[in-house]
Amino acid sequence: MHYTFQHYQESAEYIRRRIGAFQPKVAMILGSGLGFLGDQVENAAAVPYGDIPHFKASTAPGHKGRLVFGTLEGQPVAVMQGRMHHYEGYSYEEVSYAVRVLRLLGCDTLIVTNAAGCVNTAWKAGDLMLITDQIKLFMESPLRGENLPEFGVRFPDASKLYTPALRETARSAAGDLGIELKEGVYMYFPGPQYETPAEVRFARIAGADAVGMSTAPEVITAGHCGMRVLGFTLLSNMAAGILDQPLSEQEVLDAAAACKDKFSRLVLECLKRM
Ligand code: HPA
Repeated sequence: MHYTFQHYQESAEYIRRRIGAFQPKVAMILGSGLGFLGDQVENAAAVPYGDIPHFKASTAPGHKGRLVFGTLEGQPVAVMQGRMHHYEGYSYEEVSYAVRVLRLLGCDTLIVTNAAGCVNTAWKAGDLMLITDQIKLFMESPLRGENLPEFGVRFPDASKLYTPALRETARSAAGDLGIELKEGVYMYFPGPQYETPAEVRFARIAGADAVGMSTAPEVITAGHCGMRVLGFTLLSNMAAGILDQPLSEQEVLDAAAACKDKFSRLVLECLKRM
């Protein structure tokens, strides 16, 4: 089943009734470890995904499953506390459904964060990476199916999915805060199994610096509907096969907890400068 424009409108209408005249400008999809920023939103109205017509729940650990509307660093935001993943059983259209709803609500900018495996052997676990571009091959696009021209064109340009001006904002924010920020390419893998060492070697040859199971579908959808995008990756672990040790969810969550402070300071500083 594909969504029609009317589905998105119904979701947006429901949310509008809950948030009144408030108009969010920046949508934020917070991955592992940064969901707590949603709790810092001022004058917040929280809408559980389950209340919103046509919305799906989010089942991944550490993901709360609600939209928080309010002000953060002086910016009117809509924070997704928890995202949907393809590995949870959702189609790519479902995974990126909320992006279009937030676009209808007035968001013109999307900030995405995630945790991912580090493919670049010159870097280390715990580093932060500004996403400059992404690779999502082999599986279908979230835009597959009839195009909805209310959102964008059939064959959208993807040459600057991660907005250059926002990348510059992130560079200067990181510099001013004294936070080291790597820059690189995020390669999407569907999961939920972590990659094999051979897949990680493949990713490296393909030009990737990080491998992860989220973000890329939502960013394609955001680009299609003309949103500016800023993306950050917490390199929570060295990708499979680089170190002689198995990968675990716990390692990812521990790294997210350890980097929570610098990661959130950086994201908030960027938000302030938007
Ligand atoms: N691979 C894929 N997704 C991830 C990883 C990884 O190594 N670490 C955190 N999310």
